[in-house]
Amino acid sequence: ALDLEVWEDNDALYSRAQEIFSTQIKNGATTFGLATGGTMIPLYEKLRSSALDFSHCNSVNLDEYVGVPQGHPASYHTFMQQHLFEAKPFKATYIPNGVAEDVHAEALKYENVLKSLTVDMQLLGVGVNGHIGFNEPGTSFQSETDVVELTASTRSANARFFDSLDEVPKQAITMGIASIMRAKCILLIAVGEEKRTAIEALLKGDVTEDIPVTRLCNHPNVIVLTDLQINND
Ligand code: F6R
Repeated sequence: ALDLEVWEDNDALYSRAQEIFSTQIKNGATTFGLATGGTMIPLYEKLRSSALDFSHCNSVNLDEYVGVPQGHPASYHTFMQQHLFEAKPFKATYIPNGVAEDVHAEALKYENVLKSLTVDMQLLGVGVNGHIGFNEPGTSFQSETDVVELTASTRSANARFFDSLDEVPKQAITMGIASIMRAKCILLIAVGEEKRTAIEALLKGDVTEDIPVTRLCNHPNVIVLTDLQINND
C-alpha cells in the first residue's frame, strides 16, 4: 500500500517526516535505512534539533561513491557525519566502503550486513530519472548490493557537491532494489518540480525497470511525502 501525503509547506513536510521517525522509535524500531542528498538535509536538521535518541539504533546507508576517500567533503561518510551522526550518535552505523581494495567483495559484505539486520524503516529520495539508491533505469528488480555505473544525468545532478563534473565518480556501491524492498516500511521524500516525472510514474502504478522507483508499488508499506501538487485520481 502506498500512502501519498502532499504538503504545500516544506517546513511542515519535514516536521511530518520527523514525526514519522519519532513514531517509529516509539513503536520499537531500532534499524533505520538512511539516505543522503539535498532532499535529506532539512530532515536531518530537524532530527538534529529534536529530542530523539538514536543511541540504541543502527543505521545502514543506501550507498557510497567508489574511489572517494571517506574524509573527502563530498563522500557520503562525510555527509552523514556532518548532517546527523556528529549530533545524534547511533549504536552502530554502516555505510559501504567506496575505497575498499576490492569493491565487489565490499558490496557482497554489505549485503550480508543488511541480511543480518531487519530494516524497520528505509528512507529514500528519488533521482530525476527515477533512480532509488544508485539503481539507475534498467536495473533488475532482483538486484542486491553491487558496484554500479552512474549515468551522465546522475553525475551532472550531483556535480554541485564536487568542484567540477570531472571529479564526480563514475561508480558507486549501492543497496540493490531487492535489498531496499526487504525493509518493513519505506519513507520516500520527493521535493521539487524536477522530481515530478518520477513521482507521477510511481503514482500511476505502471511498474517498470525503466523507472526504478515504480518498484515501490509492490511494497506493502510505503509513505510518500511530497510538495508536488498531483492529480491522483
Ligand atoms: C542518496 C541516494 C539517491 C538520492 C537521489 C536524490 O543516498 O541514494 O538516490 O536520494 O539521487 O538526490 P537529491 O536529494 O540530492 O535530489
